[in-house]
Amino acid sequence: MTTTIAVIRGDGIGPEIMDATLRVLDVLHPGLQYDFVQAGVAAQEACGELLPQATLDAIARHRVALKSPLTTPVGGGFSSINVQLRKHFDLYANVRPAVSFPNTRSRFAESVDLLTVRENTEGAYIGEGQQTSDDGATATLIQKVTRKGSERIVRYAFDIARRTGRKKVTVVHKANILKSTSGLFLKVAREVAAEYPDIACNELIIDNCCMQLVMRPEQFDVLVTTNLFGDIISDLCAGLVGGLGLAPGANIGTDVAIFEAVHGSAPDIAGQGIANPCALLLGAGQMLDHLGQPEAATRLRRAIHDTLEARDRTTPDLGGSGTTAGFADAIISRLGA
Ligand code: NAI
Ligand code: MG
Repeated sequence: MTTTIAVIRGDGIGPEIMDATLRVLDVLHPGLQYDFVQAGVAAQEACGELLPQATLDAIARHRVALKSPLTTPVGGGFSSINVQLRKHFDLYANVRPAVSFPNTRSRFAESVDLLTVRENTEGAYIGEGQQTSDDGATATLIQKVTRKGSERIVRYAFDIARRTGRKKVTVVHKANILKSTSGLFLKVAREVAAEYPDIACNELIIDNCCMQLVMRPEQFDVLVTTNLFGDIISDLCAGLVGGLGLAPGANIGTDVAIFEAVHGSAPDIAGQGIANPCALLLGAGQMLDHLGQPEAATRLRRAIHDTLEARDRTTPDLGGSGTTAGFADAIISRLGA
């Protein structure tokens, strides 16, 4: 069966890891076709626009996109294209698994298998109402949390727990201090949790949660939280399993889903051909699950596991001396029939 997805090659290490990922996908899912579209600085250079209408149209048409990282300038400059895409398509659930693999530089051997479910469309992270006073002395933004936004993300977390055989959802908040915004999120989370008696639920304040994640990550199963907290703890969770090179993420909405790596464009190693392609590959695995190809997704995750176990051509972030392309070849050689 032929399926077409939109593909954004991104910038920085983006094109390198995307080329590697598509070579692996070609073997796993020969019926998959790619509609290459542009976004971010690459689009600006090509056509003078950061997020061309043609890109939005293609993603809307295909309903599934695989996206490499896009650079966002720090401080000033244009606002994040990633955030714009999430907003435009109302991709409210950001689903980020962190799973232990062998032979990484993680401090935790094989004990981590958790899922961060992050609200993706509201809260401080989207930067609504950002203002700096004329004298530059005061900066403000609006932090808005809604019942609707909270309810659908918590429900998503419980539903995915149920669907994937997970047993517990931890609600991560700061309702002791942020009584209005985090308070509403927690109140709604408690109401939703009551509808899922088969799934255990506990609550943790974000700062304690970070400490617990570092001390005893094996106690966690699914974490659900608001946008900015989810951004931060998902990088922490990536650190638990060997770094950003192994952390994928899915942005899920009602109509459209965009799959990516958690990491950014890594300007410090871009152009050297040494970026780890596994985060984007694992994002492609989430995409295969979403496309109804769970066997292909399982084959991919097993091949990555086996390649890491053999330390075959792994990249420098994992302690190896391999290249992006060589690592992808090593994974392809383990895909089997
Ligand atoms: P980053 O995630 O690009 O890099 C952080 C560190 O991890 C760097 O030392 C980098 O070399 C390393 N790293 C990241 N991915 C790697 C990989 N696949 N293999 C090996 N090492 C890897 O974060 P940074 O430097 O804070 O951000 C760079 C740019 O990326 C910024 O413009 C930021 O806005 C953007 N960004 C984009 C995201 C997206 O498109 N979804 C997500 C996060 C950041
Ligand atoms: Mg982030």
